[in-house]
Amino acid sequence: MTATKKISLHIDGRLCEAAEGQTILEIARANDIKIPTLCYLKELTPWGGCRLCIVEIEGSPKIVPACTTPAVAGTKIISQSPRLQNLRKATLELLFSERNHFCPMCQYNKGDCGLQHQGYLHGIDGIRYPYLFFQTRLYLNRLYKLLIINSLKLLMS
Ligand code: SF4
Ligand code: FES
Repeated sequence: MTATKKISLHIDGRLCEAAEGQTILEIARANDIKIPTLCYLKELTPWGGCRLCIVEIEGSPKIVPACTTPAVAGTKIISQSPRLQNLRKATLELLFSERNHFCPMCQYNKGDCGLQHQGYLHGIDGIRYPYLFFQTRLYLNRLYKLLIINSLKLLMS
């Protein structure tokens, strides 16, 4: 049995030790460095769908998703920067634009919603993109009339 090779790299200026093959996100989490995620679930194979976990690699013009990118020894990873913040906000806005997200009435998450949480963390209080769904009908119960919410006016409250 061959021992796993150890590597070291910097994330946000912090020296991190890791096993070769670990992703940037795994190493960041092991070192208590917070990188936002939405589609990543620890028990499942990462697929890089949401692009919220993007990071920069010093000296490279590319940005990469931390959850699917294996770390390379000696690299310097940047997980927080104005560029990343802007891109993450735009990603969240696009996600919010796909549906009429009216959190106070939402029955799906019982107060535990990753998208809502990231929206708060990134200061999303409106979006710059056209909504794909202009109206969503919420059936509350028999005592309430059909409530039609104009998604252009409501995002989160
Ligand atoms: S963002 Fe708000 S409306 Fe959308 S699923 Fe989460 S809690 Fe529900
Ligand atoms: S968490 Fe979704 S792409 Fe990495």
